[in-house]
Amino acid sequence: MDMPSVLKCICVVLARLFSAEVLLRMHSVGICGSDVHYWQHGRIGDFVVKDPMVLGHEASGTVVKVGSGVTHLKPGDRVAIEPGVPRETDEFCKTGRYNLSPTIFFCATPPDDGNLCRYYKHSASYCYKLPDNVTFEEGALIEPLSVGIHACKRAGVTLGSKVFVCGAGPIGLVNVIVAKMMGAATVVVTDLSASRLQKAKEVGADFIIQVKNESPQEVASKVESLLGCMPEITVECTGVQACIQAGIYATRSGGTLVLVGLGPEMVTVPIVNAAVREVDIRGIFRYCNTWPVAIALLASKRINVKPLVTHRFPLEKALEAFEATKRGEGVKVMLKCDPTDHNP
Ligand SMILES: *[C@@H]1O[C@H](CO)[C@@H](O)[C@H](O)[C@H]1NC(C)=O
Repeated sequence: MDMPSVLKCICVVLARLFSAEVLLRMHSVGICGSDVHYWQHGRIGDFVVKDPMVLGHEASGTVVKVGSGVTHLKPGDRVAIEPGVPRETDEFCKTGRYNLSPTIFFCATPPDDGNLCRYYKHSASYCYKLPDNVTFEEGALIEPLSVGIHACKRAGVTLGSKVFVCGAGPIGLVNVIVAKMMGAATVVVTDLSASRLQKAKEVGADFIIQVKNESPQEVASKVESLLGCMPEITVECTGVQACIQAGIYATRSGGTLVLVGLGPEMVTVPIVNAAVREVDIRGIFRYCNTWPVAIALLASKRINVKPLVTHRFPLEKALEAFEATKRGEGVKVMLKCDPTDHNP
């Protein structure tokens, strides 16, 4: 191939890449615990912030420009953004589990920039059009909601399930919402904070338990006595060692414990207790294939995530917003990136 042809090929490739993207005017971006963690500590496990990085991955916005190859979106469309975009069609992608692809792009996981900004460019295939009756904030909340959908699917929640959700932060709450939606008969939630537990009731928890310094076995027996039986499913959303231990003791023999919360890499747990009672322990890594499902649930008003938003700040007050999140105030803090529209 002569030199001009090579150059032409390169240009075509670059143009094709851009042609599959959309430019968005950002509207609402929720602050996640991981954003605060990167800001405060500069790393989560093996993901280390080495260069300045834009935070934010729970987001929605309006399409302002589309690449030449984009057919399903047009300027003016309101969209929810799925922050994880696989970079290659590897074995995980081929089997529909693209969240496990080791080379995936993910907003605000170093070195990939997030979308807490005024304008942001993203793969069009990972932007989902919102119906008129789904707000921008609901669109942004699809990201944490997706964690609940993926966790409850991996847990096997179904009609009549008795579910124990450990932790009533935003992720515990979305698991309550999704478990009830999926047919759980009763959901019991534990947390240290009375106000968080009140929120859990508001979004559909049947029972709440405020824990103080009970042993894991004591927590497990309180869960059992409230439910009238041991739960066949436990969704652990704290990552705290004592809570994972309680999760094992609480889960009925033959049931499933899903680990959603992330704490230290090494934890001591009664693994033999789980093994001899055939309690399956599963993990989750983010989510996959959840946005269309979430949009359908929100559009049909079968779930309500609006109570999760407790604070709103304009983008210029991002620092205040992050400080409030760090102090653990409220549930979900939303940043409003469009100076002309601070509506939900
Ligand atoms: C919301 O909008 C969608 C799409 O336009 C429509 O199918 C659905 O029926 C609407 N839901 C309600 C509750 O109005």
